Amino acid sequence: MRADGGQQPPLVRVVDAFREAYGREPEGVWAAPGRVNLIGEHTDYNDGLVLPIALEQRALVAAARSSYGRTRAISVQFPSDVTTFYATTVVPGQVTGWGAYLAGVGWALRVAGHAIDDLDLVVDADVPIGAGLSSSHALECAAGLAWMDLAGLPVDRMELALACRQAENDFVGAPTGIMDQTASLYGRDGHAVFVDTRTLAVVHVPLDLAGHGLALLVVDTRAPHRHADGEYAARRQDCEEAAQLLGARTLRDVELTDLDALPPHLRRRAGHVVTENARVRHVVSLLEAGSDPRSIGPVLTASHVSLRDDFEVSVPEVDSAVDALLEAGAYGARITGGGFGGCVIALVEDAAVVASVTAVEATYAGRGFAAPSAFVAVPSAGAGRLDA
Ligand code: GLA
Repeated sequence: MRADGGQQPPLVRVVDAFREAYGREPEGVWAAPGRVNLIGEHTDYNDGLVLPIALEQRALVAAARSSYGRTRAISVQFPSDVTTFYATTVVPGQVTGWGAYLAGVGWALRVAGHAIDDLDLVVDADVPIGAGLSSSHALECAAGLAWMDLAGLPVDRMELALACRQAENDFVGAPTGIMDQTASLYGRDGHAVFVDTRTLAVVHVPLDLAGHGLALLVVDTRAPHRHADGEYAARRQDCEEAAQLLGARTLRDVELTDLDALPPHLRRRAGHVVTENARVRHVVSLLEAGSDPRSIGPVLTASHVSLRDDFEVSVPEVDSAVDALLEAGAYGARITGGGFGGCVIALVEDAAVVASVTAVEATYAGRGFAAPSAFVAVPSAGAGRLDA
């Protein structure tokens, strides 16, 4: 099941759109995947541990150096909304909307001292937009690769991930961590990407679900994102305040036994982060030991309970989907991504995918929620240049 519903292959579509827009061939096409996070939620801005996978669904950027001394970007998804800016001078505040993800990366690379050119760009994506699957980070990573390659710059993937985070934080204005960019840049077929966001060490952890007759089902709840940006920033602030009260640099340096000194709501927030880091280690150790992946199911569900009750980033549509999936026999299910809507993942038997989706659909219909959509996540390769 692909999120694009099996239309024209995205590579052909983006190249055709480039020819139509600029009357010439692109110099190249760069692609970067969206992600789902297997486990390690709201840990990445606390110097913590994350274990995402890169999806096969990608953002694509067709690009060529511009002959007009400015960057022009057209989106296949939003064709009437053309973005222009000067990559050599653009600063935060000058570009908004989806164009900010492109301009932001150009700006961050420039601030890091790289001489980049203005580009003609066409962007396309088969990552569902606005579903919490990091379509925007995928776009940043693909554009960043295009910029570096076309300027003849050697690509250090972690440096690019950091530039993309800076674009997100200081240009787009979203105080997110580095999980999504590392997933997109370091994804590997058949593997999850274990990142220690303090040391920035990346380890690929085998995740052979199909070989065990399993599927990682992603259910897009289509729940409207309720105050997602403000609530995300508020959670981050809670974590910083908790660390400060405990005299720690970040919550990575805190033990469960330290938390008694905190007021109750900060104890619950910090408790989630500390236990979530432990759950990531647990899942990594099970997978690295070659255990049956079914064994990670209860750990995924425990993560959901912690995010629901202690970190309070869930919404009724998400909890209903998790409950319906578990009742339908999933080994584990949890919210994935920043929360307040978005997607749920569930570890299910391959043969139970259809019945699991049906179970969520029935629950949603009964509760008057908008119909969900679903696909099976395949751990895929990270960003790179495609042969046009
Ligand atoms: C969003 C952010 C990530 C991370 C998650 C929560 O996806 O972009 O950096 O903080 O939320 O784990």
